[in-house]
Amino acid sequence: MSERLSESGQPIKPVYSASDLPAGLTERLGSPGEYPFTRGVYPTMYTGKPWTMRQYAGFGTARESNERYHSLVAAGTGGLSVAFDLPTQMGYDSDDPIAHGEVGKVGVAIDSIEDMRVLFAGIPLDKVSTSMTINAPASVLLLLYQLVAEEQGVPGSKITGTIQNDVLKEYIARGTYIYPPAPSLRLIADTFAYCRNEIPRWNTISISGYHMAEAGATPAQEIAFTLANGIAYVRAAVEAGLAVDEFAPRLSFFFVSRTTLLEEVAKFRAARRIWADVMKNTFGATNPKSMMLRFHTQTAGVQLTAQQPEVNLVRVAIQGLAAVLGGTQSLHTNSYDEAIALPTVKAATLALRTQQVLAYETDITATVDPFAGSYAVEALTDEVEHAARELMEQVEKRGGAVAAIEQGYQKSEIENSAYAVMKGIEDGSRTVVGVNRFRAEQEEQYDPLRVDPAIEADQSARLAALRADRDNAEVTRRLDEVKAAAQGSDNVLYPLKEALRARATVGEVCHALRAVWGIYHPADAF
Ligand code: 3HC
Repeated sequence: MSERLSESGQPIKPVYSASDLPAGLTERLGSPGEYPFTRGVYPTMYTGKPWTMRQYAGFGTARESNERYHSLVAAGTGGLSVAFDLPTQMGYDSDDPIAHGEVGKVGVAIDSIEDMRVLFAGIPLDKVSTSMTINAPASVLLLLYQLVAEEQGVPGSKITGTIQNDVLKEYIARGTYIYPPAPSLRLIADTFAYCRNEIPRWNTISISGYHMAEAGATPAQEIAFTLANGIAYVRAAVEAGLAVDEFAPRLSFFFVSRTTLLEEVAKFRAARRIWADVMKNTFGATNPKSMMLRFHTQTAGVQLTAQQPEVNLVRVAIQGLAAVLGGTQSLHTNSYDEAIALPTVKAATLALRTQQVLAYETDITATVDPFAGSYAVEALTDEVEHAARELMEQVEKRGGAVAAIEQGYQKSEIENSAYAVMKGIEDGSRTVVGVNRFRAEQEEQYDPLRVDPAIEADQSARLAALRADRDNAEVTRRLDEVKAAAQGSDNVLYPLKEALRARATVGEVCHALRAVWGIYHPADAF
């Protein structure tokens, strides 16, 4: 019998048996909802409540995205997930010359509180939880959300959701960073402190392996580099004077789910086990919630193909199944047309229906962690854990996540893995159905959704009207207060909120911070 390698590069045995499981399995597993949380973070898991079906969406103007959210809620989605366009993600207004050609393209354009109000019109912010994929300007978008909630009569204590806010992985894999690492970490620590005081149910960060995985990281690299980033955030917050149990319960994570189902289930279980150990034994957390690795999952976009796109429905179903068997808290299933363009309404609906089939037609929600005790999955869980811990040690040896990023370590490891996958597809040792095997003689025509190019002009007109209508002297004064806080050590979020209330724009507040903190230039860019 021949041995196949896992995605993390370990041999997968053709047959596993009891002898593959070292003594101490009961301790390594624990009970569901108990340390080390291998079997899941809640005692009842999906038998108590299914995961949150949270479809990432947003494009064009706030009005168009608002319509899509209403239709997602009507179709049975449980939480919102906002995609912002690139200028917003980089802290630029739609009328900034640098934004030209990108407004409303990969997500919604948000310039000020006025856009945010339109984005959530008619959506009760005390009832829905909202994730916002925003990193360098995460605090800005969170404050706009809070201001809009307050206008709806919903106090900060009642709103719930997540900001991605994970700048370290932006330096490694995704690219929407603004400030250098030190002030970025300070801003994140300020956000943890602000949320503890003002928005206690908010998940203050979504420490993400997804984008590293999409860039080519193996499952072991994905969780190792993500957890290493997590450690860097915890250290930064502790150094800023926060007690670990004050902020750790609101840290959350975000991983990919691939079609290699067994290893993915193992990966999720291993990640929970490592994080619980790190929080308890390295950081001395005593609240079990600080040790719980709660995570969102998105199915692997990189595994979807432009060829025979309907086959992607099958891939996504398997990927989604892996996420659920791995105990995810929240899930985005990709649309089958995502490898081609922005999802159409039909494709987005089918993606949600896939989750509904998993939740309500299968029996995988009837019992917690159904793979527990499986020789293969337990052995793989131990192996992924071992491989990830070794990589985390490599990061530590280089001085921790930030120092390792500055040395280009994670990026080059990920690039090597990506190269190996590409080579495998080219030489045929890795099968991609419809691409290097089982090809169609002729591909069907596909009519993609396109963003209206007039959006940029519309947004610019809205901005001009806003600047003409507001009290600009007050805006300048409020922006000066933001700068003063950034120069000193006061929490920046309080003056930021006042500036946004006075209708300063996303670009203006980010410029104020750029003026004090500067911008990050990666070491490997020439
Ligand atoms: N028994 C008892 N209570 C339960 C339960 C059970 N079985 N299951 C859930 N609950 C409770 C929880 O305790 C929680 O209550 P609380 O608010 O009082 O603590 C409530 O029900 C909600 O459950 P979860 O917290 O488990 O689920 P959420 O959906 O609210 O949160 C999360 C999940 C992972 C913690 C959160 O961070 C989240 O929603 N993340 C989403 C991130 C996201 O969508 N990202 C999109 C990224 S897209 C991207 O990056 C773009 C690109 O470039 C690809």
